Amino acid sequence: MTASDAPHAPDVPETDFRNAMASFASGVTLVTTRDAAGRPHGFTASSFASLSLHPPMVLVCMGKRATAYEIFTQAPTFAVSVLNAGQTHLAKLFSTRGADRFGDPAMIDSVRGLPVADGALAQFDCALEILHPGGDHAILIGRPLSIRLTPGQPLVHWDRRFGGFAES
Ligand SMILES: Cc1cc2nc3c(=O)[nH]c(=O)nc-3n(C[C@H](O)[C@H](O)[C@H](O)COP(=O)(O)O)c2cc1C
Repeated sequence: MTASDAPHAPDVPETDFRNAMASFASGVTLVTTRDAAGRPHGFTASSFASLSLHPPMVLVCMGKRATAYEIFTQAPTFAVSVLNAGQTHLAKLFSTRGADRFGDPAMIDSVRGLPVADGALAQFDCALEILHPGGDHAILIGRPLSIRLTPGQPLVHWDRRFGGFAES
């Protein structure tokens, strides 16, 4: 069965969908790029995931109404910074409309000149390989070109709140 011949079902209530997704704990990333003039752009994203191991590929879902949507779809590269437990302020800054996101001293350049968060647990520089439609979002599929790791504890997002990781 393909998606096109799946039985048509009415949408689930939006509140149920939002609450169910809020029950899913995730890490928090900044997804960033530069436009053709070299200006930095970026947003907070929790939809980051590993897609493939051979070859290595990652994905992130980006809302089509985001300010920098067109920039990201046209840029050949983007970066992903996996935020550490002390970087809640960056997660908030990069999801606040109109904020000076790159005025923060924690934003530095990667070896390829992409903006990344200094001290992030992982910094990926990626080539944008595939742009896939997904409802009101698009899936950016990237091929990592370089990775930089920094030890630390992760920032976690759950139930619309930021927190830390607790071992069980
Ligand atoms: C914890 C958190 C996770 C988010 N994850 C995503 C995401 O995966 N994809 C996305 O497009 N927006 C995500 N957002 C929203 C964006 O960060 C941002 O608010 C949105 O793109 C609108 O901002 P802008 O148009 O000013 O860039 C997330 C926001 C927060 C606070």
